[in-house]
Amino acid sequence: MGSEPTKARHVAIIMDGNGRWAKRHHVPRAMGHQRGVEAVRRLVRALEATGLECLTLYAFSSENWNRSEEEIGDLMNLMRRFIKSDLPEFVANDVKLKIIGDWKGLAADIVAMLEDALAQTAKGKRTLAVALNYGSQQEIARAAAKAAEEGEVTVESLAANLDTADLPPLDLLIRTSGEQRLSNFLLWQAAYAEFWFTDVLWPDFTPEHLGEALDQFARRERRYGGR
Ligand code: IPE
Ligand code: IPE
Ligand code: MG
Repeated sequence: MGSEPTKARHVAIIMDGNGRWAKRHHVPRAMGHQRGVEAVRRLVRALEATGLECLTLYAFSSENWNRSEEEIGDLMNLMRRFIKSDLPEFVANDVKLKIIGDWKGLAADIVAMLEDALAQTAKGKRTLAVALNYGSQQEIARAAAKAAEEGEVTVESLAANLDTADLPPLDLLIRTSGEQRLSNFLLWQAAYAEFWFTDVLWPDFTPEHLGEALDQFARRERRYGGR
């Protein structure tokens, strides 16, 4: 018991370090975000090969609205461009898009683009879940309110109302750039997840890094409180 290598089904990543990458390369922050999008693209292309059922990416937090108007505008424009350029590839590669967070609060044109992307990828096999305007405390509060409306609030009824209700349990949570905090990401879902931290800045993250994390995950012994 416990020595069998475990295969991850669901990995989530806090994609951090775009700004520091830009600083290190003496380019504007927007360029760091642009290269961050390219790291996302590389990873989505490798999704099939990872064997994962679901990859969840933290792209924009509820608290990221506290950044400058210029940076928020750059991030939103990158999102528009990314959906437009990569949606056909998602469809061709059987990627099923899912959005978690309060994404309907984004600009109307982005919401419309996302709705179209969700519809076009609905039959995909592997899930790419993107956290947009996402805050875990807000998600839990929303889920608790919905559960209360439906009846008794229990661990199960609350979990059934989380944005991630239809995703496999979270196995592994990765954060890049050397920070070791959750920043309001998947607080509930991480209850028994494994953690993997790396100093690599997000724009430099490759599918090989993910492979390294998955190899290490396979060697971990998960106990869930039992023995
Ligand atoms: C992550 O990179 C991208 C988002 C949070 C949108 P950052 O922009 O947080 O980069 P650092 O942390 O300043 O280096
Ligand atoms: C978390 O990164 C949010 C995303 C990666 C989208 P931040 O850079 O916003 O987090 P803090 O501010 O360092 O905690
Ligand atoms: Mg950051």
